[in-house]
Amino acid sequence: MSDIRKVVVAGGGVLGSQIAFQAAYTGFDVTIWLRSEGSIGRCQPKLDKLKKTYLDAIEVMKTVESPIDPNWCRGIAEFGKFDPEECIANTEKAHAGIKLELDLAKAVADADLVIESMAEVQEEKTAFFKKLAPLMPEKTLLVTNSSSLLPSSFTKDTGRPAKYLALHFANSIWKQNIAEVMAQAETSQASFDAIMEFAQEIRMIPLPVNKEKAGYLLNSLLIPFLFSGLDLLANGVSDPESIDKAWKLGTGAPRGPFEIFDVVGLTTAYNIVEKYQKVPGIVNPLLKKMMLPYNFKAQKAILKKYIDAGKLGRASGEGFYKY
Ligand SMILES: NC(=O)c1ccc[n+]([C@@H]2O[C@H](COP(=O)([O-])OP(=O)(O)OC[C@H]3O[C@@H](n4cnc5c(N)ncnc54)[C@H](O)[C@@H]3O)[C@@H](O)[C@H]2O)c1
Repeated sequence: MSDIRKVVVAGGGVLGSQIAFQAAYTGFDVTIWLRSEGSIGRCQPKLDKLKKTYLDAIEVMKTVESPIDPNWCRGIAEFGKFDPEECIANTEKAHAGIKLELDLAKAVADADLVIESMAEVQEEKTAFFKKLAPLMPEKTLLVTNSSSLLPSSFTKDTGRPAKYLALHFANSIWKQNIAEVMAQAETSQASFDAIMEFAQEIRMIPLPVNKEKAGYLLNSLLIPFLFSGLDLLANGVSDPESIDKAWKLGTGAPRGPFEIFDVVGLTTAYNIVEKYQKVPGIVNPLLKKMMLPYNFKAQKAILKKYIDAGKLGRASGEGFYKY
């Protein structure tokens, strides 16, 4: 068992609220640090909604017969050891127990772990780490949940290079329960091991990423895959349905790139292209050579055409496909 008991999550947005809820659900003492009363007003409804999400999921899980059923939420319980009453009690306890704090010094005074999950803005994260560094006790481990900024971008601002690394969650952590644990060059093995252990304690499946890599494991695979599909369309090589079929029938995978785009939503897809085209090293150089002119501009133009036509994906009834 790790020595971590007191967890502080900095930022109470989409992911911050989920991480806080999951850590509280699994019995940790959790505080969310927020920067203003306005942030509290936005964070509390997210926690209320998460409580309902967990309770609804637990109801559905009572009817699930296989651990590979997509309704089975691995973050909530292990298949075969599911005690609905206990899960409901943990949900109520998590919701009642999370503390919201505006005073950063007070929030982190006795923290074993601080999880930074603020908006993906480098300057704001830098300013936060600088402010945080002198306030944490010696023992505190520090992780960032940043999706696209490498942890080494902030090492010097943290004041504790050996105790600092990345712990990256996936959205909807109660069911998509992977946690990518990524070291930067100065992270100690002891800190890495402690975070691997903590991730497991909050019912995540910890995946070690032993050196820095933009996109960690999942996005290093997924983003070039989605870009590749889009690029085939952008270059007029084929149509969405055929590209999806090639992937599904050729590999046995359940969805092709355009079906994934429709699930994710085309506005999010546009933002992904926008964001990841700037991440150095996200597209494998080998892939880059294999493809026709790798054209982010044309990829974005296609997505924009669909978005402007109101075809936003599955949620709007039509994207690349009609539903
Ligand atoms: N959304 C996802 O699917 C996802 C998945 C994995 C990781 N992440 C990462 O998690 C982090 C947060 O993402 P999110 O989706 O929760 O964003 P979000 O916009 O929902 O939440 C951001 C939070 O940060 C706070 N914040 C912003 N600037 C701040 C500042 N200067 N000082 C203090 N607080 C500030 C906001 O008030 C809000 O509570 C990002 O680093 C992102 O890359 C997101």
